[in-house]
Amino acid sequence: MNAPLPDSIRPIRFEDGTLFLLDQRRLPQAQLENAYRGAAEVATAIRDMVVRGAPAIGITAAFGVVLACQEARDQGVPHWRTAVDVALDRLAASRPTAVNLFWALDRMRAVLDRCTGADEAVTASLAAAHRMLADDIEANRRMGAAGAELIESGRAVLTHCNTGSLATGGFGTALGVIRSAWAKGRIQGVFADETRPWLQGARLTAWELVQDGIPVQLLCEGAAASLLRSGKVSWVVVGADRIAANGDTANKIGTYGLAILAREHGVRFMVAAPVSTIDYETPDGAGIPIEMRPPSEVLDLAGQRVAAEGAGGWNPAFDVTPARLIDALVTEHGVVMHPDRQALAALRARIETR
Ligand code: MRU
Repeated sequence: MNAPLPDSIRPIRFEDGTLFLLDQRRLPQAQLENAYRGAAEVATAIRDMVVRGAPAIGITAAFGVVLACQEARDQGVPHWRTAVDVALDRLAASRPTAVNLFWALDRMRAVLDRCTGADEAVTASLAAAHRMLADDIEANRRMGAAGAELIESGRAVLTHCNTGSLATGGFGTALGVIRSAWAKGRIQGVFADETRPWLQGARLTAWELVQDGIPVQLLCEGAAASLLRSGKVSWVVVGADRIAANGDTANKIGTYGLAILAREHGVRFMVAAPVSTIDYETPDGAGIPIEMRPPSEVLDLAGQRVAAEGAGGWNPAFDVTPARLIDALVTEHGVVMHPDRQALAALRARIETR
């Protein structure tokens, strides 16, 4: 019999006209929620990593649009849509790589296009943002079930960054697969890369798994090659920030290296992501914009300089894994084995004819 699905964390909620975000910079030491009543502050929160992870960024931006509509209504500005468009642009400029941000803003724009006044825009955008949040959790549960089916019992999995409840509306993409696989008794436990420089693995993934009673061992990225050679791991399971039309996948820096190591050691490599992460407008990985973050994130640790004075830092937040290194792409609309341009086009055609 399956154990109950472990799923206790929700990072985003909206109540009484206020957006609440669990401040992910403070975890695991402190569980604090920040309250937001303005769209500009939400854009800053995304940029500053209060909330992060591709689907969570998109959902947060959608609620940011609701706040912009509320502001326009409350200030009684004559051209509500012009004011909201400024907020849309500001939210779009917060982080460049996760396509879910732009997908969410496009959806909200389409909702606003059907509204004739600020009151209507508040009601309609709020309903759309809540739907996006609920749909995301539902999609994650479907991905979890489908991905877990691919994992045969008896070994552990390795994951990178944080792809869990914190990175989504709840439950998680790759971590959703891991939650489901654990509930079905298919994995012995989880190895998690600490994920320099933001330590999403050490701070967030480890925290989520501990909360839900799933055994986790952390490793520094440099230990991954030895781990994959050891035979302890059957799958590397990761999420995605943007998947190009040919299956090339941008995810947290270090993912590409793991994919090469997995292939070398006969370990399979799974990407779990909702179809909103597929960017059919970008033909291949070379076209995916990669966010460069401040060198200080590499040179410092917890706000303290650790690198030699005078050293510079190179800090791309994401890298691109070529599709040929990916064994399975798990979406809420099914699993694509060996994703490539043809297989992703077929997935799109299947979804559109439903
Ligand atoms: O810089 P971050 O923490 O936003 O990066 C997050 C990741 O790379 C995740 O793996 C990705 O967004 C998938 S989250 C379900």
